Amino acid sequence: MSELVRSSIVDRVAVIEIDNPPVNALSAGVPEGLAAAVERAQQDASVRALVVVGAGRTFIAGADINELERAAWGDDHALPDLHGLLQRIEDGPKPVVMALHGTALGGGLEVAMAGHYRVAVPDARMGQPEVNLGIIPGAEGTQRLTRLVGVEKALDMCVSGKPIAAAEALESGLVDRLIEGDLRTGAAAFAREMAVRRGAPPKTRERTDKLGTAVSNAPLYAAGRELAAKTRRRLEAPLAVIGAIEAAASLPFEEGCRREREIFVECVRSEQCKALVHAFFAERGASRVPDVPKDTPTRDIATVAIVGAGTMGAGIAMASVNAGFRVILIDTTERALEAGMGTIRHNYDSSVKRRRFTPEAVAERVARIRPQVGYGGCEAADLVIEAVFENMALKKQVFAEIDAVAKPGAVLATNTSTLNIDEIAAATSRPESVVGLHFFSPANVMRLVEIVRGRATGRPVIATAMALAKRLGKVGVLVGNGPGFVGNRMMFPYMYEAQFLVEDGATPEQVDRALTSWGMAMGIFAVDDMAGLDVAWRVRRELRQFADAGGRRPLVADRLVEAGRLGQKTGKGWYLYGEDRKPQPDREVIDLIERAAAEAGIHRGRFTDEEIVERTIYALINEGAKILEEGLALRAADIDVIYMNGYGFPAWRGGPMFYADRVGLPAIHAKVAAFHREFGDRWAPAPLLETLATQGKTFNAAERGQTPS
Ligand code: 3HC
Ligand code: NAI
Repeated sequence: MSELVRSSIVDRVAVIEIDNPPVNALSAGVPEGLAAAVERAQQDASVRALVVVGAGRTFIAGADINELERAAWGDDHALPDLHGLLQRIEDGPKPVVMALHGTALGGGLEVAMAGHYRVAVPDARMGQPEVNLGIIPGAEGTQRLTRLVGVEKALDMCVSGKPIAAAEALESGLVDRLIEGDLRTGAAAFAREMAVRRGAPPKTRERTDKLGTAVSNAPLYAAGRELAAKTRRRLEAPLAVIGAIEAAASLPFEEGCRREREIFVECVRSEQCKALVHAFFAERGASRVPDVPKDTPTRDIATVAIVGAGTMGAGIAMASVNAGFRVILIDTTERALEAGMGTIRHNYDSSVKRRRFTPEAVAERVARIRPQVGYGGCEAADLVIEAVFENMALKKQVFAEIDAVAKPGAVLATNTSTLNIDEIAAATSRPESVVGLHFFSPANVMRLVEIVRGRATGRPVIATAMALAKRLGKVGVLVGNGPGFVGNRMMFPYMYEAQFLVEDGATPEQVDRALTSWGMAMGIFAVDDMAGLDVAWRVRRELRQFADAGGRRPLVADRLVEAGRLGQKTGKGWYLYGEDRKPQPDREVIDLIERAAAEAGIHRGRFTDEEIVERTIYALINEGAKILEEGLALRAADIDVIYMNGYGFPAWRGGPMFYADRVGLPAIHAKVAAFHREFGDRWAPAPLLETLATQGKTFNAAERGQTPS
């Protein structure tokens, strides 16, 4: 028997254990091993019932996404096909009990639903997250789930991709019993109970009681489509999965399965699947740092001191208490602390209103934050995060103060978005303990943290920062210590190009519309208004690198700042904002743009949306290539992770570098070179882009087994 699946018999119950670390994915060998073990137990006269359980931390977390990736790139042999296995499980005469812990996801839940019964520990979670990979359940999940929980719930689970908790699974009929205490013992006892029941064990595929009628289901499908359009904008799979659920409710089981399969295969071959699978592995790959192996010792963190209780400090404090840490929140005045704590309470209040947290959970979290003036008690902190104003002299002073009070071994982090980490580290006696933790606003929500490695940053400190990001529920990406690090450095050419387009004849609204229609979560002008126009204004003054874009200086942004139009916070920036905070085009801004362009002798023309997207997104890609070449990002996929998680780049396009690979680097290079001829220096093609294009390679080559360039 396959070593991936083991069997033992305990008191006439066969316990079949899947052991394929880390998450018991259904890799080649697992379905075969499981089928053989089930067959053997069904035929063994000494066995009365079967229990299937996962070894280690979880039940089955789904099909093997490595195989799915191969299928997405054209290898049909890698397409998961579990039909035979599921039928064998369901058709056996002895009851099969699926015992769930950890997560039963995707193909894992599909296997579980072919069992006659399901039991689960209270903290288990079950879901069909396939849409997050650009596919739909491909092993009869849409057919069996709909039969078990009904059309409405199946739609909700499959469209959102969100797992549900065991209690909800019990209530909806997905699970038959919750097991407190030891899962195997409880599942075996349950199996023995079921074994003495009369008749053949119940088959999910024969159930029809929850399928509804065409008339009762029609509004549910309509609501599902509305939900998909609203919450999963531009994603194909959440809409496609509704078709498979319709098939479940209206066709006989086998026909429904065939329909599901057709939709599944179509989705696997889609561009969106390739991109989303890339996003999945890119995110996990980001935690791999070549010279910081996984077994690098990390420093334990229980107490976090945060210096600065402003916008970022308050958000970081929330993220920290949400992850279970104690927080000391420091500012210079009681007033600043009150403002910070006020923001925190206000944010938690809205979470309670949205039922994300109970009032008790919020009270407990807030109680773990100790606001104070000064550094008293800071020697207890395992990690200090500085989030004071963006000013080098102040940061140095604060770091010298922290150095004087923090215990040996504490990690000292700065949340600076532009300043030099080495210079900040030099203000301490322990630069090896200093690291950048560049959170994004709002820090309690945004998933990205750029982990900035200084010249002296120690490996254990990097490993600790990586582990911290994960503990905070965020993705940490290691970046080098250069102006703007990775994300913001790329933002400048992108933002400037958008501003030049506006000077050259487009409007902010047209540019933003072209970008959001293309897939960006927000238009660049709306982003600038949200961040505050004064932020980029200050950077333009302080960092020469960002003062202009290869010789051309944006004309309008400075004038808006001088006119007091700082964006949302002043009610006007590139747009006008009313009570609802929705951006409205403003004639005054258009006049200002036209005046500035006329003074500079710019001939204004018209642009198509395609031209707008090329000029902005290709600027992003070209800068990304430079960053990669300079070694500020470890790999192209890291840049993708940064843009998808911190800058609203659509995951279904896989990030800017992956998108460039898909368009084809020769085509991107040709366009960039044409822009270079037309617009001059700022469009000089990155040498790496030129080389890869000439060699017919891609940015993300390394991840797909090609030789990295
Ligand atoms: N296939 C292959 N590898 C997987 C995997 C899968 N389904 N799920 C997780 N992994 C790998 C990760 O790549 C990672 O590998 P690494 O350590 O080498 O980087 C390792 O398992 C641990 O994963 P995480 O870092 O994500 O661990 P967490 O504990 O944070 O999360 C999890 C565990 C909740 C299971 C999360 O990994 C997850 O959500 N996985 C994906 C689940 C999923 O999408 N399943 C559906 C697959 S598609 C399918 O089943 C099609 C079917 O309908 C036919
Ligand atoms: P903020 O102005 O909202 O807050 C700064 C806080 O620091 C204020 O409450 C101030 O009283 C306090 N402070 C000043 N000197 C102090 C001292 N000596 N000791 C203790 N507290 C002191 O600023 P914000 O926006 O929170 O930014 C903080 C840092 O985070 C900056 O370095 C900024 O560049 C960075 N950042 C900001 C982002 C944003 O979107 N706002 C995003 C990412 C990073």
